[in-house]
Amino acid sequence: MGINFRNRDIITIDDFSRQELEYLIQKAQEMKKLEKSGQRYQLNKTLEGKKLASLFYENSTRTRTSFETAMHELGGTTFGFAGPEGTSLMKKENILATVMMYWANHADAAVMRHSKDGSVQWAADVLGIPVINGGDGKNEHPTQALLDLVTIDELVPGIDGLNIGFGGDLAHGRTIRSNALALSKFNNITIHWAAADELAMPEDLIDTLKKERGVKVKRYDSVEDVFRNSNIYYMTRPQKERIKGLNEAQINDILEKYKIDMHKILSNPNIKILHPMPVDSSTAEIDITVFFSGNQYFIAQAENGVFLRKALLYEILNETDHILFNSSIDEKVAAANDKDYITKSDDPNKKSDINEKPYVGKIDYGVVIDHLEDGITAEIEAKLQFSKRGYRVTSVLHEPSTKTGKLKDFLKIKDKLLTPREIKEIAMISPNATFNIIKDRDVVEKFKYNLCKNENCITRVVNEDVPPKFDKIGKDLRCHYCRKPYEKLCQIIQNLKNS
Ligand code: NCD
Repeated sequence: MGINFRNRDIITIDDFSRQELEYLIQKAQEMKKLEKSGQRYQLNKTLEGKKLASLFYENSTRTRTSFETAMHELGGTTFGFAGPEGTSLMKKENILATVMMYWANHADAAVMRHSKDGSVQWAADVLGIPVINGGDGKNEHPTQALLDLVTIDELVPGIDGLNIGFGGDLAHGRTIRSNALALSKFNNITIHWAAADELAMPEDLIDTLKKERGVKVKRYDSVEDVFRNSNIYYMTRPQKERIKGLNEAQINDILEKYKIDMHKILSNPNIKILHPMPVDSSTAEIDITVFFSGNQYFIAQAENGVFLRKALLYEILNETDHILFNSSIDEKVAAANDKDYITKSDDPNKKSDINEKPYVGKIDYGVVIDHLEDGITAEIEAKLQFSKRGYRVTSVLHEPSTKTGKLKDFLKIKDKLLTPREIKEIAMISPNATFNIIKDRDVVEKFKYNLCKNENCITRVVNEDVPPKFDKIGKDLRCHYCRKPYEKLCQIIQNLKNS
């Protein structure tokens, strides 16, 4: 099958086949050759008239600049924002409304970076133009992984058989996840790593690499041991803005042992050091002397970012027609909003019993929320302020469950239904909540709201109104946006079947 990137969204590196990765590496290398032989001008009209929206909610130096450089060198233009200041984000405009404005302003493609996992998938779902992930939270950074591959391919003969070391903050960085998933498409890869427990490689990633991809993953106590076993070492900065529960001094402290300096490099003088950058100058996870050493390849790595992004934009946008504003928005929004995020009980006999419970009191119209965590209703009231807003709410506290005997709370809301946003807020406070929608004295709908368990997922931001959605990938259910596994959904379906 031919390789075709035209109009394609670039959200996760896992969507690429090995063949596609190799194709893009080669195309980036061709861009590099043109540049180095003074022939950049050959392509400088290729994307004439095309516009790239550059939507950077989070800080960026390399990714944003290199996308913009790439677009300009191909004859296209860019517009957008670097940080929320100066945009209506400051007036609490959400992602959906903001990104659609760039579409309305005739963007042909968009690159987006945001602090929430899965946020770029959401933007891609609602936009009718190709969307490129420039980094979503601690989830993925696919174009960084692509440029890393371009660099690795230059430094070692072929990527198969690679021994690579990982260091720094492996828990909160998106580059590590994307890089590891990209390498997993090649053969006989071994990842050697050393990091503090608080910054260790995520278990779900290790599982995927080892069990599904046959990648060997080995942990060591010292950076020197990792150096001795690797050809390339991929260092990362502590993601201070994403690490919870530790202050800056504590982070610097736990990182001390894992910092890179010329002394450690003595354990393998041939080691080639990569880093997606930025290097945090207050932590100095890479000593400044390494910048001036022959082991440093991260500046070349950053330049490869320009070539890779040129190749990618060329592949996505070249010769595509402009997409009309009202092309397929309704369909896409509808697809993103379908209700597969709720688990329904379809047993009609089960449906009506909640409205029969004497202590709940029968209601004609409203919502009964069952299976709330014992004692949690005060927190729900504090957050949603039902009584202040004129809702007629009755709380039943500390009620033993007929099945398990465990205590639980109930909430009965009379004469009003809840909005999707309210339902989400309640589920975020008490994930086991079961919502019974009552009309004409009968339960017409009964469901649990299945939240993605990743607290940093875009679906957990109430104001963004992104409905949770799960895709079946292989045997797993995974969040459609951040791709984290969601075992609990199966469990809930099971529970409802047994209840
Ligand atoms: C990285 C990022 O933003 O994910 N930088 C980059 O894009 N080159 C790495 C980081 O912030 O640590």
